[in-house]
This record gives sequence, C-alpha cells and structure tokens, in this order.
Amino acid sequence: MIEGRFFRALNITNKKELKDFSSVSKVKISNLRYYNEEGILPSGKDLESLLRTLGISKEELKLKLGIIDNEMLDALQFNSSDVMRLINKDLNEVKEQKGTHELSFETDFGKMFHGDCLSLMDEMESESVDLIFADPPFNLDKTYESGINDKVSKEEYLRWTEKWVSKCVDLLKEGGAIFIWNLPVWNTYISDILNRYLTFRHWIAVDVKYRLPIKNRLYPSHYGMLYYVKGKKPKTFNNQRLPLKICRHCGGDIHDYGGYKSKLNEDGINLTDVWYDIPPVRHSLYKTRDSNELSLKLLERVISLASNEGDTVFDPFGGSGTTYIVSEILKRNWIGVELGPVEGIKKRFEDIEFHVGQIKEIQKNSNTLFTDEMRKLRKANGHWLPETLNSNKAETKKAKTPVKLFDN
Ligand SMILES: C[S@@+](CC[C@H](N)C(=O)[O-])C[C@H]1O[C@@H](n2cnc3c(N)ncnc32)[C@H](O)[C@@H]1O
Repeated sequence: MIEGRFFRALNITNKKELKDFSSVSKVKISNLRYYNEEGILPSGKDLESLLRTLGISKEELKLKLGIIDNEMLDALQFNSSDVMRLINKDLNEVKEQKGTHELSFETDFGKMFHGDCLSLMDEMESESVDLIFADPPFNLDKTYESGINDKVSKEEYLRWTEKWVSKCVDLLKEGGAIFIWNLPVWNTYISDILNRYLTFRHWIAVDVKYRLPIKNRLYPSHYGMLYYVKGKKPKTFNNQRLPLKICRHCGGDIHDYGGYKSKLNEDGINLTDVWYDIPPVRHSLYKTRDSNELSLKLLERVISLASNEGDTVFDPFGGSGTTYIVSEILKRNWIGVELGPVEGIKKRFEDIEFHVGQIKEIQKNSNTLFTDEMRKLRKANGHWLPETLNSNKAETKKAKTPVKLFDN
C-alpha cells in the first residue's frame, strides 16, 4: 500500500502499479516518488510524459494535486455554488478521529490539561485567547515521551498542522497574536495557512548555532518564528528593547554613533526581526531529550511583547511547560496541554521560585541601554554613559588595563 496525493491522482496504490506506471510513462520511479513525497508539480519532460499518459491537461493535474493558482481560484469562485453541490457529500464524509484530554492540575493563573490539543481546542470557546505560542514537533523523527510518530509523510504532517493552526486561529480574540516556532521549511507552509485568516506581522529569525552543518547546504543557523495577528492590528504591542552591543572585553562601542549618542533611547535599542541573544537550553534541571525545552528568555520576550497582565495565553504543545511557567510569573492566565507525561511541568511549578529569579535576571538585563555590568565595565574603562555625555573628558579618558566582563 503506498499513499500520497500525487499517487492518488495517478491511481497508484501499490508498488506494482507504480512500476507499471513508470514503464508506460517512462518517468523514473525515483522521480515519481520524489513528486509524491514533496507534493510538487513535475516539470519538463516528466510533466509532458505524465500528461500524455494520463490524457489530461496541466490544469487538471494541478487541481488533482491541490495546486490552485489565481486563475483556477477565479474559475472556482465563479462556479462556487456548482462546485459546492458536487463536493458537499465528500466534505461531510471526512470524519475526524477524536483524541481526549483531562484536567491535570491548576495553579493561581493556569489550567494544565493532559491529552490531545485538538480535543482540548474543540472545547475551548472561540475568540477567548489573547496570545498563542506554539512550538510543535518538527517531524524530525525525534523520540517524544508522548510516543507520537514524529516521522510521518509530509502530506500527513501538513494536514495535521493545518488542523491545529486553524483551530488556533478560531481561538484568537480580535487583535490577538499568534507566534509559531518551527524550522523555516515548515514555516513556509504554515505562513500559507495563516495568510488566509490573519495579518502577517513578522517572520522572526532566532539565531541558534548549535545545529550541525549539512553537506551541500548553507549552514542552518536560525529557527523561524512566525508572528501574526487577528484583524488589522495587534491590540497589544509592548515594544521590547535591548542593551547596546559593546565590546565583550573592554566595554567600548562596536558601532560609531557619531553625534547621535545622546539621541539613543536610555531604555535600549529597538528590537529587530533577527534575534541573536536567545541562548539554547543546555543544562536546565527540567530539560529532557523529549521535551525540547525553549529558553525562558524567548518566552519572556514574546509574552511581554504581545500580552498584558490578566490576558489569556494558550500553548497547545506543552513540552516542559516553559510558556506556562513564564505566563504564571508574568501574571497571565494560561491554558496548557501536553500529550505526554505532565509530571515534569508540575515539578517546574513546585520550583517556581527558581524561575522567578531567572525571569528577574532576564528583565534586569533588557529594556535598558546598559546593564549594571556593562555600566561597571564602561566606567572602569572610561567609555561614555548617558550621564557622562556632556562631559567630553569622560569619552577620552581610558583606563590603563581594560577590565574584562567576559572571558575569551
Ligand atoms: C517541541 S515540544 C514543545 C517544547 C516546549 N515549547 C518547551 O519549551 O518545553 C512539542 C511537544 O508537543 C507535544 N505534542 C505533540 N503532539 C501533541 C498533541 N496532539 N497534543 C498535545 N501535545 C502534543 C509533544 O509530546 C512535545 O512534548
């Protein structure tokens, strides 16, 4: 039994039919498999041979493969009543397999469910959530404690993705925001889904350099985080600012600010859509290979940026519960769900004071032009600080032995 939209379009259901089709059409089996796995339209000689063998037009093949360009869309729109009459029965026949969920524990601000996020989302009220953060499995064949199959076909992964993304869209309040964390390749498809319902804000590249180089490829060094809102504009956008970039060793300026130093905002530099300062979680007490724990700093920034105290935050893929812990500390109501064991998340809440300390540290070092440590280093090495800008002497005075903030 072989599956896939491309094979279905060609009426191929098993290896023998695949072999037969390949010998009749003269399209290599490996190419047919590639078109099926990637879900893309063949090109060149392969396309010509396929159309000849199937006796259909390119437009019909595209429709069979679900590739709908604007011309086709116009034609479908023009004939929408007839098309609906034709396909209604098939649409109604699609039955969803239902998972389950149950309340696991509650905190001052949150409710943690154990089970399937699709089942939970079915029960949640539409337009009830202010912010959604989602970090789904990437279909990379990882082992999760939940036992999910993390290596399904591209088609199956995208079908499932479309389901949970659409449900998330439904849950968002007007002006609410959704952030989706994934590999750039999957984000290209997720964007396509989101573009139909929400307003694009940013594709945020989060620099993460711990992945391995791959032969004949560019070195993959970022995750993509999609940021969309429901409606024309976000109801909450609390701009986040970063400290100035300075020399790690002497605290001196890296860029030449010319006469603009005094114009720099003392709350910090504007955040861009490329984030270089999010550390990977390496030694956390709560990290297990299965949970792929994200950094508290990432969630602190997203939650502070797109929600306010008292808002409701939802994350459909709990993992180690990073979103929930940060929401609790920042006094957001939260709703969580995880298919695998939730004991790790519960344990994190028992140690919440440890996380409170970390969040305090993160907040102390953001939304300011210079952190306390940076100030100390710059002062010691005679570099300017906002309060010394009026005194020319301060800029030129250099200490003899530069004081170091970081080791090499
Ligand atoms: C990449 S991890 C999330 C990590 C999380 N952001 C953190 O910082 O700890 C994805 C999680 O989603 C869970 N998961 C997968 N399918 C699910 C489903 N249908 N419903 C709920 N959770 C699911 C997996 O078990 C896994 O723990």
